[in-house]
Amino acid sequence: MTRVTVVGAGFVGMTCAQRLAEQELAEEIVLIDVIEGRPQGIALDLNQAAAVLGYQARVVGTNDPADTNESDLVIMTAGMPRKPGMDRSDLLEINGKIINTVADYVREGSPEARVIVVSNPLDTMVYLMAERLGFDKSRVLGMAGVLDSSRMAYFISEKMGGGVADARCMVLGGHGDSMVPLPAFSTMDGVSVTALLPEEDVDAINHRTQHGGAEIVNLLKTGSAYYAPSAAAVAMAKSILRNEHRLLPCAAHLNGQYGLSDLYMGVPCVLGRNGLERVVELEIDEAGMAKLNASADSIRADIKTLGEKGLL
Ligand code: 2OP
Repeated sequence: MTRVTVVGAGFVGMTCAQRLAEQELAEEIVLIDVIEGRPQGIALDLNQAAAVLGYQARVVGTNDPADTNESDLVIMTAGMPRKPGMDRSDLLEINGKIINTVADYVREGSPEARVIVVSNPLDTMVYLMAERLGFDKSRVLGMAGVLDSSRMAYFISEKMGGGVADARCMVLGGHGDSMVPLPAFSTMDGVSVTALLPEEDVDAINHRTQHGGAEIVNLLKTGSAYYAPSAAAVAMAKSILRNEHRLLPCAAHLNGQYGLSDLYMGVPCVLGRNGLERVVELEIDEAGMAKLNASADSIRADIKTLGEKGLL
């Protein structure tokens, strides 16, 4: 039996559980949260939708970590979302403590699991999760590039007047304001965006992509985005569970790729049954590499803060 655990029954977690169930990516989906009643209520609601939609997957809502034991894959969404005006790094301490608690029960109960971290600040939280789990780093990944690239794809299709299904984008670096959209590696049906749109439009799309999360936080006033984040996390989960070997931008542990080591950052990754199969190294120009290095510096600063706060 395939068991997937979703940690956190907030909007990202519950929509992850919904997408996993509707796509029948696991026979059992465990939704766990510290709030009593919430995961149980969401699970019941999702199970009651099964007859209408015709899916076989069963959702279990729980507050007990023992119910997550022997998970094949864990999607970690728990944590505080940003409020308007907050930076993702403002969540470092509070979400770091939650990561460590979850890592401890995943290590004990699901030693074979592959783990996808969604909680913010993403690149630091996935680093912390991997350190605390002590699993092979190829089994621990962070979700951000798929989301940021999907946002960019939408903005490009909007500017082109449609065709979103043909848009494929590549956004690398950290999941923060220093993320690095790469228009030269972003295409409409194979044609580079730089050949399709004037430079000022490409610049505006890059900027809107970098602030795509904050745009939604400011509109919602409470909470942050969840439809696109859950779609992105489940696309990664599907490539792992179905061994699809998709090339997706994800936060992966770097040990020399792009000249960077001992950090997690968004890079193109091939994902299969065991998690990360390989990091693909693109030929990025000097200006792009300078931006990636700046993004890595801001992730390193957050990792240093984690250490100073005694979380690592
Ligand atoms: C976002 O970019 C929540 O970080 C997430 O919307």
